[in-house]
Amino acid sequence: MSGTSLDGIDVAITTLEPSGAFQFIAAQTFPFPEQLHQKLQLLITDQHCNLQDLGEIDIALGQLIGKSINQLLNTHQLSSNDIEAIGSHGQTLFHSPSGEFPFSLQIGDANVIAEITGITTVADFRQRDIATGGQGAPLVPAFHQALFSAENEERVIVNIGGISNITLLPASSNKAVIGFDTGPGNALLDYWTTLHLGKAYDENGQWAKSGKCNESLLSIFLNEPYFEQAIPKSTGRELFNKAWLDNKLTEYAKKPDPADVQATLVELTALSIAEDIENYTTSNGNVFICGGGAHNDFLLDRIQSLLKNKKVSTTDDLGLHPDWVEACAFAWLAHRSINQQTGNLTSVTGAKHPVILGAIYQ
Ligand SMILES: Nc1ncnc2c1ncn2[C@@H]1O[C@H](COP(=O)(O)OP(=O)(O)O)[C@@H](O)[C@H]1O
Ligand SMILES: [Mg+2]
Repeated sequence: MSGTSLDGIDVAITTLEPSGAFQFIAAQTFPFPEQLHQKLQLLITDQHCNLQDLGEIDIALGQLIGKSINQLLNTHQLSSNDIEAIGSHGQTLFHSPSGEFPFSLQIGDANVIAEITGITTVADFRQRDIATGGQGAPLVPAFHQALFSAENEERVIVNIGGISNITLLPASSNKAVIGFDTGPGNALLDYWTTLHLGKAYDENGQWAKSGKCNESLLSIFLNEPYFEQAIPKSTGRELFNKAWLDNKLTEYAKKPDPADVQATLVELTALSIAEDIENYTTSNGNVFICGGGAHNDFLLDRIQSLLKNKKVSTTDDLGLHPDWVEACAFAWLAHRSINQQTGNLTSVTGAKHPVILGAIYQ
């Protein structure tokens, strides 16, 4: 898995029994080499490139994913024979699930991954759901349901990657799971931190904590149609990016202190998540955070203080470290695919019917 934050490739090894029993074995994040990181960053932000570059980056990323998997197997003295399949999400370049020709574009050629590892690889998870009228996202809620749901307890799983998505797991299995992208996660926080501090991210939210939320700026940030859009919905860095923030700051007209902007962005992330949780939950159930945002203490504090009736913790409390939930979800989805089981939740993606996700590269 490598998400919109472009922080690296998360590789997780799990066991999955036909009964559905899941066990985490090991995981590691493999950062992108500087050159590839720059190229991907440029592709995603500039959104244009020459076709030879695009073809080459697709292969370069496939090679890196394949080698990363082999390295993790080596570290844990496992061989390709020990592994039934790989689920590879790839790197999203563009996500456009609405309109006449909806699509979601991921790269990291799975032919190359299968060849380098000698392991059957499942990839292209989002396309079939989109073909049947769905958003193609988020796909992790089905895994959240399988692993984290509990009878008699309403639970909310919040994945804070570059973008944030929530899964609302009802207490009763008769009720449908709700899941959607709430809006920005770390993407805007990372961009602003890199611009002003030259760092990849604001460690534990310390810089944001040193600033003060600017209420006028916050209301400009919140004046974004995506927040009001009905579900099912999904978004990406096509919307919440440098241009989005620059436009909003231009609207504000004054020049706010950079630390105050960071504090306001944290409030935007926390508020958009908390309001959606309040709107879609009924009880005082618990909230479990995963994704890199789970390390941002200040962000978690803000979410907790906005959700007074709920306890906010991380998926560590449910037995799976927050860094590895999404990668494990794609192992789980691959397992579904090779066993010819459907992987999308129509109540989440809006697809017309459940489908077997992914293409299998033997
Ligand atoms: N200690 C930390 N403090 C604050 N933010 C962190 C910390 N560790 C990771 N992050 C954030 O998490 C992001 C990576 O999260 P991840 O879940 O991998 O996102 P994605 O799925 O988009 O790749 C980083 O870009 C960073 O913003
Ligand atoms: Mg990541």
